[in-house]
Amino acid sequence: MADVQAPPVLDAVAALAELAPIGADPVRGGWSRHLLDDADRAMRAWFVRTAESLELTVETDANANQWATWAPHGATGPAVATGSHLDSVPGGGPLDGPLGVVSALVAVSRLMAEGHTPSRPIVVANFAEEEGARFGVPCLGSQLLAGDIDTDRVRALVDTAGVTYPEAMAAAGHDAAAIGHDAARLSSMALYLELHVEQGCQLAPLGHPVGLATSILAHGRWRVTLTGRGDHAGATELGSRHDPMLVAAAAVQSARARAVGSDPVTRSRATVGKLQVVPGGSNAIASEVRLWLDARAEHDADVRDLVARIVGDIEAAGRAEGCEVTVAEESFSTRVAFDGDLTDRIAAALEPRFGDAPRIPTGAGHDAGILSAHLPSAMLFVRNPDGVSHSPLEGAADEDVRAGVDALAAALRALT
Ligand code: GLV
Ligand code: MN
Ligand code: MN
Repeated sequence: MADVQAPPVLDAVAALAELAPIGADPVRGGWSRHLLDDADRAMRAWFVRTAESLELTVETDANANQWATWAPHGATGPAVATGSHLDSVPGGGPLDGPLGVVSALVAVSRLMAEGHTPSRPIVVANFAEEEGARFGVPCLGSQLLAGDIDTDRVRALVDTAGVTYPEAMAAAGHDAAAIGHDAARLSSMALYLELHVEQGCQLAPLGHPVGLATSILAHGRWRVTLTGRGDHAGATELGSRHDPMLVAAAAVQSARARAVGSDPVTRSRATVGKLQVVPGGSNAIASEVRLWLDARAEHDADVRDLVARIVGDIEAAGRAEGCEVTVAEESFSTRVAFDGDLTDRIAAALEPRFGDAPRIPTGAGHDAGILSAHLPSAMLFVRNPDGVSHSPLEGAADEDVRAGVDALAAALRALT
């Protein structure tokens, strides 16, 4: 009789080390893996290879999300879905995204090895363009799947190199004509559980390696275009300038000042992290500056109020400098409260190994937040000793990475 090879039991630390060379960014530091670029495609190829080594059924949907299904004999009904994303911010850390996908595959390999017989399928997801780093809209894959975003709007998106979304999809073998609401896949899932590295530092002082999410701040992104008059840095008298960089400086200052000045209860924060200066010469007054305002707060209305105040300041600065100001909303995600019953069930599954796992809110957006409007969703966080994320300094101790897998495996065991 031929030897039947059992699927391997994977290790999360080893899997993350395998991914480390992919998309390592020599200019920014950290990792840059953006929707369907070479690095993202290498990450996706790793997903397929690893899932197939576990004999999972791998599919890519019309929205470029990847799915790996374990549905052994007897597993019926809507699946328990888990996973995260493999794309990154520009020059991001190693764990934001990959930790959740890696942990999901490792947890499945462990359940297989211990002979767990799930009563329903377990599906591992890799959601496309979670960070929105290429086309500006976060959680693009999950929003498309859920029918939460207009498909014509998505097809009109263009990246900073001038590549359109349909062109990027076509280059990777996808058809942008087919994107959009995937009711069948959505209803094939009973719930979604995403494991993520903690962003912020709440678990370390509490002495817990894993925690559970309660909520996500309301948040959004606004593109602000400041148009002035390009001119010579030496020859142009100060009084006759229309310099959009001055307006950009006012925008950056206002973002901080208005957030600090908000009622602390609103947990407001506002950031300008991306700026494009045209033409970008050191001896030229800029003709145009584009900047991106990221604003977040506890409730939707708090974000709207914060943005209105900042935009008012930018418009005043624009008037003073004789520059035109236009503002376009690129995304808005309403406040998320995760499913209390599901979170309680997961907490109970964690209790024997982890005791009373802390429940913490987050200021970061996630596909779990998008899906929470459509199916019961929950999140597990893995302790981040310094709390840093969206930075190469992001990290977690190896033992905490493995503890996260233990927690996810315990949850999946209990939920299936
Ligand atoms: C995603 O990580 C976000 O919160 O911007
Ligand atoms: Mn992120
Ligand atoms: Mn993430």
